[in-house]
Amino acid sequence: MNSSANISESELKNEVEKLHSLNQLILDSVAEGIYGIDLEANVIFWNKAAEELTGFSMSDFQENNLHNLIHHTNQQGEHVPLTDCPVYHALISGESLFVEDDIFWKKDGTSFPVEYTIKPMQEQGKHVGTVITFRDMSEKIKTEEMLAEWEKLLVVGQMSAGIAHEIRNPITSLKGFVQLMKESKQLNEEYFDIMDSEFNRIETIIKELLMFSKPQKTSFKQHDIKDLVSQVVLLMEPQAVMKNIRLVTNWQSCESVYISCLDHQIKQVFINLIKNAMEAIESDGEIVLTITTGQKEVTITVKDDGPGISPDHVEKLGQPFYSTKESGTGLGMMVTTNIIKNNHRGSLEVESEVGKGTVFEVRLPLVGGKGS
Ligand SMILES: Nc1ncnc2c1ncn2[C@@H]1O[C@H](COP(=O)(O)OP(=O)(O)OP(=O)(O)O)[C@@H](O)[C@H]1O
Ligand SMILES: [Mg+2]
Repeated sequence: MNSSANISESELKNEVEKLHSLNQLILDSVAEGIYGIDLEANVIFWNKAAEELTGFSMSDFQENNLHNLIHHTNQQGEHVPLTDCPVYHALISGESLFVEDDIFWKKDGTSFPVEYTIKPMQEQGKHVGTVITFRDMSEKIKTEEMLAEWEKLLVVGQMSAGIAHEIRNPITSLKGFVQLMKESKQLNEEYFDIMDSEFNRIETIIKELLMFSKPQKTSFKQHDIKDLVSQVVLLMEPQAVMKNIRLVTNWQSCESVYISCLDHQIKQVFINLIKNAMEAIESDGEIVLTITTGQKEVTITVKDDGPGISPDHVEKLGQPFYSTKESGTGLGMMVTTNIIKNNHRGSLEVESEVGKGTVFEVRLPLVGGKGS
């Protein structure tokens, strides 16, 4: 070998080392956790943020597989074998993937919500592993929960006016009956039945309002979507009556339709959609709710005969603070979208025609349905 070759060889080595430390510097300067695994699922790099977010360092992976340390159990508390892990699947198939709703585990035994992107790693055209970039979503989720709570209190405030109005009617009639019986000094059986049903209606409305405004524990349970929507209709009816709007329910069958959900969040979705429909109609109109059960999912539609939404405004639906109303916060649709898509793995679509009305279509996975 001649001397110039020697120089270039050592220069090359220097260059490689420089590049390596530059790479590490770049990796360590980003806020997202980034790690790479080879085809045997061995960790080949692990940046500072990944270490800070999880508490694990490179040396921890010498004895234990990364999956068994940070990704062993899902949000429902079920064990996730490596073969069911999306990272593993992307690694084998060489595909890219974005996972929005998952958790990683820390060294201290706690977990945190994450979203992550998986990208295949190529070397001279050959698939050699995969790179995962993950982000801690705790803060974002906390903010979303706060917004949902705030929105809920606003809605409760608005509903109270309608409910107070609605309760006044049965109370007036109850007072009338009491007066009548006092004057006639007779106990009429028929009056008692009417009074009883008036009392029951007041009781149910108040119970619903209290249930809704109470802070709820977040745990997923199976609920009949028909019950949830019916309870919302009961809550919203007083306001609808005040505005001369008919609230029509159209259930495909009388069988129960079970979804796994946070019931207060699902109720909030339909309160938001019905409230928007009522505000759009202003007065004299009709809102039709339908529930259709498919094989894997249930579809709930909220249709109004209001003024509709123009296509350029449809695009803005769900953006925070987008509102065409003087007193609107513009958070209703954002909260609704978040509850349906992120918290319940459902979908939300809108179809609207100016001058004719709007239909919102919510799809939610059924309990026991394939793919749920
Ligand atoms: N059914 C509907 N018909 C017509 N326009 C609608 C309908 N639903 C939503 N919109 C439009 O979408 C906008 C955003 O709705 P969103 O519920 O997010 O906020 P908001 O109703 O204005 O305020 P908030 O719900 O926070 O009180 C509304 O201001 C309205 O212009
Ligand atoms: Mg709204």
